[in-house]
This record gives sequence, structure tokens and C-alpha cells, in this order.
Amino acid sequence: MPNKLKSHEGVIPEQDWVRARLQGIRDEGLWRELREVDERSGFPEIAGRPVINFSGNDYLGLRRRPELLSAAAKSLNESGSGAGASRLLSGSKRAHADCEAALQDWSGKPALVLGSGYLANQALLSTFAPRDTLLLVDRLAHASLLDGALLSRAEMIRFKHNDLNSLEELLRKARRSKPGKRILVVTESLFSMDGDIAPLREMQSLCLEYAAHLVVDEAHAVGVFGRNGIGLCSEFGIEDEIKYRSATFSKALGSYGGFILVDADARALLVNSARQFIYDTALPPHVCACAAAGLSILSFSPELGPQLREKSAYFRERLHASGVSVGGDAHILPIVLGESEAALKFAAALLERGVLAVAIRPPTVPVGKARIRFSVSLAHSGEQLDQAAAAVVDVIEQTGLSPLEFS
Ligand SMILES: Cc1ncc(COP(=O)(O)O)c(C=O)c1O
Repeated sequence: MPNKLKSHEGVIPEQDWVRARLQGIRDEGLWRELREVDERSGFPEIAGRPVINFSGNDYLGLRRRPELLSAAAKSLNESGSGAGASRLLSGSKRAHADCEAALQDWSGKPALVLGSGYLANQALLSTFAPRDTLLLVDRLAHASLLDGALLSRAEMIRFKHNDLNSLEELLRKARRSKPGKRILVVTESLFSMDGDIAPLREMQSLCLEYAAHLVVDEAHAVGVFGRNGIGLCSEFGIEDEIKYRSATFSKALGSYGGFILVDADARALLVNSARQFIYDTALPPHVCACAAAGLSILSFSPELGPQLREKSAYFRERLHASGVSVGGDAHILPIVLGESEAALKFAAALLERGVLAVAIRPPTVPVGKARIRFSVSLAHSGEQLDQAAAAVVDVIEQTGLSPLEFS
């Protein structure tokens, strides 16, 4: 007998509900569509036209390095295509242990690999911030940190972006009203959408003063800052003091998967209680082999991060010299257009000129701060940077769309 849904007064048909949601997204100018970036020729193309890709996170251009490809191929042949189970069942293979050993050699800290950077942040906050903890989270922290905070069910208060006064006020208030409370302060080290750097040293001092602990997501700083590209905690000389750090292999390290750097006890707690670790199939071994090969390149090529910073400074200078207001302290350079529609138009005009720099809109960034976010990579040639800067200036002249002063 066909299964017929009973109708009840006031219950709208499911398809209507979905369509109304879609219409709402359209009405807000937030419609998103997938677009294939074809790299089979070795270079990015969209609909058969070559583009210069400024919307990738392959900051060091490692994704096609032969060291990564051959490590993955070797492991794929040895271990098969998937891990076959979660780590605590039978999915923990030699490649996972090797990758975690490589992380420990590189960073000096015990490490745990997770399925992605997103899962790593969720695991970190849901494990170390149970209900009785207070989370103070930067207002611009990444969705994975916010989702981790929500999942943890801890009380969460946001402080103004990179604002030490706002953070201190919250710490002072919390200590006054809840003297014995556990407090974690959560931030990215290099912000993914504004491209600016958190004042980590000062934040750590505040944490010490108010008996709180700093949680730092180094997703965009790994590979670019610090000794051997360990990140900004290392750059600022505070890596030994930071209890909880997360990052990802999916950006400068050129592959996939997340990781957490903590002490041995905290690692054991993650293994024993993080649902994102326990109930998730282990990363395919060849992905871990690839990730470890990326780490090895970082360890032997300390010049890569500084080279990227130099390239990024060159691009920023080119834009500044043309009067374009651009944000960012390193390789992530946003140009703010304001409304979503303006950012979409700007991105489309850049694409017509062969530059792929996608419009970033709410909720990824605050309302009224839609932008074009340029990610500079070592894979970009100087000529490509010149071409992109010229395209920005041309779009401003031809369309009348004008970037807002970055603040
Ligand atoms: C700051 C930040 N943290 C975490 C993540 C998640 O990393 P992954 O892509 O490995 O899941 C991202 C990715 O976009 C990010 O920007």
C-alpha cells in the first residue's frame, strides 16, 4: 500500500517549506551555487577559460608537489582507499601514527589527527568546555569554533574582534561574579576573513592574570608564521604556554584533515571522550601520508612562509599604490564592498578579466561587510599578481563600484 502522508490543518507541505526557505535566501541576495574549477590541465579553468585563482587556501602551492603525490600513491597502494573504521575500532593505521609522530617532531607537542579542521575545533570545544565552563569567543571566530561552542553547551559570550579591552572587561566581570569558574578564551590566530592577526601575547597575559586558558585556531597561520611554519603562537614565542591549539592540513599543508596540539593528558581525554574522534571513520591512510609529506616540506623549507609574506606584501602594495583600501596583515587580503550585491558584481567583473576571487557574503562575514577576499599563494607568479591588481583597478573604473575604507 502506498505510504500517504496525512494532511493536518496548518502543516504546510514539505516541498513548500523547502522552497520558501530557498526563496528567503534568494531575497536576501545570499544565493550560492557550485561552480566547477577544472584543474585537469594542471591550471585552473572555469568553463574552459583559464583563471588566476585567488580563492584557494593552498597558500604554499604544495597541493601538486611530487613529494605529496608520491607519498599518497605509495600509501594508497599499501593500505587501500579508506581506513575502514574509526580509530578506536580498527581504523588506526601506521599512516595515522606516523602523521602524529611527524606532528610531534614538528611542533614539540603531542598531537591528535581528526577528520578535518572543522571537526578538530568541534572536538576541542565540546571536550574542554562542558556546561560549567565560560567561553569567551572573538566575534569574528570561524563557524567551526562557534559550532563547537554551541555543541559544548557552555555559556558563551563574544568579545569585540581583537579587542583587548573588551576581553578584559568580560574576564573581570566573570571573575567578580563567578570566582571559581573555568574560563576558556577562543580565537583564531590569523583571521580567515579579515586576514588580521590576533594580539596573542597580550591575550595570553590576560588569560594568566584571570586564570583562563587560551584556545587558538592556527588554520591560516600554519605554514606561514613561526619556527618551521608552526604558526603565530610560535612567532610570538608563546607556543609552550598555550594549552589548546588546533589547525588543519587543508590549507598551507596542501592536503586534508585536522589536528589538535595539546599535552599528553589532554590528548588522552580527547581520545576517550571527543565524539568527533570516537564516532568518525579515520582519515584514509593516504591522506595522512600526504599530510605528513607536507609537514616534512615545512620542516626542511623554512623560507616558504617568509616568501609568501613577501609576495603578499607586494600585492598589497600594488593595490595601495592604486588607492584601493585593502585589509589583512599577511596573505589574506580583503576588499570590502558592503552589500552582497556589490560584492557579487565585483567578483563577476573580476572573473570576466580572468581573476577568480569569490564574493564572501553574510553569514560568513557581518551584514554590510560583503567582500572580495584575495588569498595570495606561492603558486602565483609576480605577473599574475600584477594582472590581478590591474583587474581590480579596471573593475573599479569601469563599474563605479568602490571598495569601502577597511576598518
Ligand atoms: C579558521 C578556520 N578554522 C577551521 C577551518 C576548518 O578547516 P577544514 O577545512 O580542514 O575543515 C577553517 C576552514 O575554512 C577555517 O578557516
